[in-house]
Amino acid sequence: MTRPASVVILAAGQGTRMKSALPKVLHEVCGRTLLDWVLDQALAIDPAKIVVVVGHGADQVRASVAGGPAADRVEFVVQEERKGTGHAMQVAATALGDDPGTVVVLYGDMPALRPTSLEVLVETAAELGDEGTAIFTALADDPRGFGRILRDEEGDFRAVREERDCSPEERAIPEVNTGVYAFPGKLLLDALPKLSNDNAQGEYYLTDVPVMLAAAGKPVECVLLEDLDETIGVNDLGHLAEARWVLQLRILEGHLANGVAIEDPATTYIDHGVTIGAGTRVLPCTVIRKGVTIGANCEVGPFTHLRVGTVLEEGAEVGNFTECKKSTVGAHAKAKHLSYLGDARVGARTNVGAGTIFANYDGKAKHVTEVGDDAFIGSGTIVVAPNSIGDGATTGAGAVVTRGANVGAGETWVGVPARKHTPATSGVAGEDRED
Ligand code: UD1
Ligand code: CA
Repeated sequence: MTRPASVVILAAGQGTRMKSALPKVLHEVCGRTLLDWVLDQALAIDPAKIVVVVGHGADQVRASVAGGPAADRVEFVVQEERKGTGHAMQVAATALGDDPGTVVVLYGDMPALRPTSLEVLVETAAELGDEGTAIFTALADDPRGFGRILRDEEGDFRAVREERDCSPEERAIPEVNTGVYAFPGKLLLDALPKLSNDNAQGEYYLTDVPVMLAAAGKPVECVLLEDLDETIGVNDLGHLAEARWVLQLRILEGHLANGVAIEDPATTYIDHGVTIGAGTRVLPCTVIRKGVTIGANCEVGPFTHLRVGTVLEEGAEVGNFTECKKSTVGAHAKAKHLSYLGDARVGARTNVGAGTIFANYDGKAKHVTEVGDDAFIGSGTIVVAPNSIGDGATTGAGAVVTRGANVGAGETWVGVPARKHTPATSGVAGEDRED
């Protein structure tokens, strides 16, 4: 694949229509920010440089990227005033150097664009030669505010007309600009200072760059994005929900292809960044958040909530109305009903009875409970952390194992507060009864 020299991600917009104090690109879809989805697109084409234009909430955006996989690759530029996409590129140009090679422009609010599609765009620009521009367009059912593509008599690209600048005839054109381009860097840098803001919004339009290039006889080619889902630009929470559904489906399809049996994709929520082994069954109405690892041949659900830091080892089963957070459920262990496992390490083959609560929070800090292998936690047990329950130990139904009680291996504890229980050994000849 041809390697573009630079990717510029425009992410300075405020996102007023989100009606949220959070910068738009930091809203999350399937466990990661819009911007992280877009950074993935950029990383997939392996550019020499990634420039992110930030403005609104710049510090927050920087901090968010710092924690992610693209942290070392990104250079930020700040657009102090939002004067349009062309102005944003003018600001980005300061970070591009004199001869930036092919420059791919992405939008921070287009999370569903497939990296494979982006490769096609870059290839198309490369095939057009050193002076060629490629633009992603789409045939929209509902053009909702997108710029329209105007073509000349030969059908070649002539202009992008912003909706607000369109005549009624132009408005009826179904082909729209998605805003994603591969530009020849040198020509882009020459054109940017020539942009004017003489238009309905008084903004500097990046779309005027391909118009200038086409007018100067340079090749400009439109690449049609067939799958309209990829063109979703998130401007409000409704669009965010649409993007979520598209990306959710892709995540579920990935697991299905890996041999994970998801009984009802319509009611299964699995974030990006979840690993699930083959042969595992995920039953309906289940929520699996990012940072969860599930082994092979497990069963999860129905109605299960697995949260960050949870590990289910091979063959573990977690069922109805059970929530796990930062907990490990050992191989073939079971927690099938109505339980909360917070900061718990449960050993292999242990049975966690219905209604068990690992009480991990004392109002100030979270604490860990360790449970050994082959233990049996009776229904309705509350284990107050920090605590430990040894291998093969048993708790009686309704036991409250108080903080730090530390049930020994093989012991049985019952009651409230739970105490070690020694079964009365009844009258067997020769048996020692002293305990
Ligand atoms: C832009 C295109 C339009 C296209 C549409 C697709 C222009 C003039 N128009 O319109 O043809 O159909 O995208 O979604 O380019 N941004 C900045 N700084 C700014 C302005 C915008 O960083 O000063 C960023 C925004 O954060 C956003 C992106 O650029 O990520 C697009 O901005 P937006 O205002 O949504 O562009 P549209 O008006 O929708
Ligand atoms: Ca705008």
